Amino acid sequence: MSPADPIGVFDSGVGGLSVLHEIRRALPAEDLLYVADSGYAPYGDKSQQFIEDRSIAISEFLVSRNVKAIVVACNTATGAAVTTLRSRFLMPIIAMEPAVKPAAESTKSGVIGVLATSRTLASDNFVKLFARYGEDVEILGQACPGLVEQVEAGDLSGGKTRLLLAQYVLPLLERSADTIVLGCTHYPFLAPLIQEISGPGVAVIDSAAAVARQLRRRLEVGDLLADESRVGAECFWTSGVPDKAKPLVSQLWKTNVEVYALPASAEHKLE
Ligand code: DGL
Repeated sequence: MSPADPIGVFDSGVGGLSVLHEIRRALPAEDLLYVADSGYAPYGDKSQQFIEDRSIAISEFLVSRNVKAIVVACNTATGAAVTTLRSRFLMPIIAMEPAVKPAAESTKSGVIGVLATSRTLASDNFVKLFARYGEDVEILGQACPGLVEQVEAGDLSGGKTRLLLAQYVLPLLERSADTIVLGCTHYPFLAPLIQEISGPGVAVIDSAAAVARQLRRRLEVGDLLADESRVGAECFWTSGVPDKAKPLVSQLWKTNVEVYALPASAEHKLE
């Protein structure tokens, strides 16, 4: 691994682009390789074994492209696969953690809501967060079936997305939540709508910037930061249909980009 090597980032789909934005902001000199596993999204209703297999296959692909670090830009894959990834791959593996800690520290009402997939809410990682912060504040976990699909379809503000969000957010407000944690990397793309539904008195927070800072720290410690005089580039792959992914990735990345088909070797379980 050397400072000139790229950083690999993956998610079940396009949600991890919300993390990629923060990584780009924190690390402008780095080359970033992004894999959207949209052909298999959502992960939320898949088995732990399936998510683990996909995470390994994608990581193997990223390793074949010489990445110096991997960011699991997916809360669901973090819960299901990060331990396995860390035991199999030598490079730094940076993963998601819903922003429960900052929410618990800043809530005034003492009630926080966490929007996530049911798999994330049931994961060991989340159960630990719940045990750690749930004594001082009330933590309301809200599963959000259907939301990942809305973002994958590029529907960030239409009627169905609005209806689903109202269904998930209003019960949290009724129970006095003043802070809403976005515990799925797809949801920051819905943040304007969530804020609109919640009103100005509610803080809507996510952990993408914290993950980017953590990545920067890990690269610094390992002497792996790219030369800061250079300008980093991005490259995108999907396990879905590249022609369909291209306009969506371009919309969410706010630049016209090319999206390539993930090679067949990363489409199958490796063992
Ligand atoms: N972006 C993923 C996450 O952070 C979505 C999970 C899914 O595909 O269900 O959890």
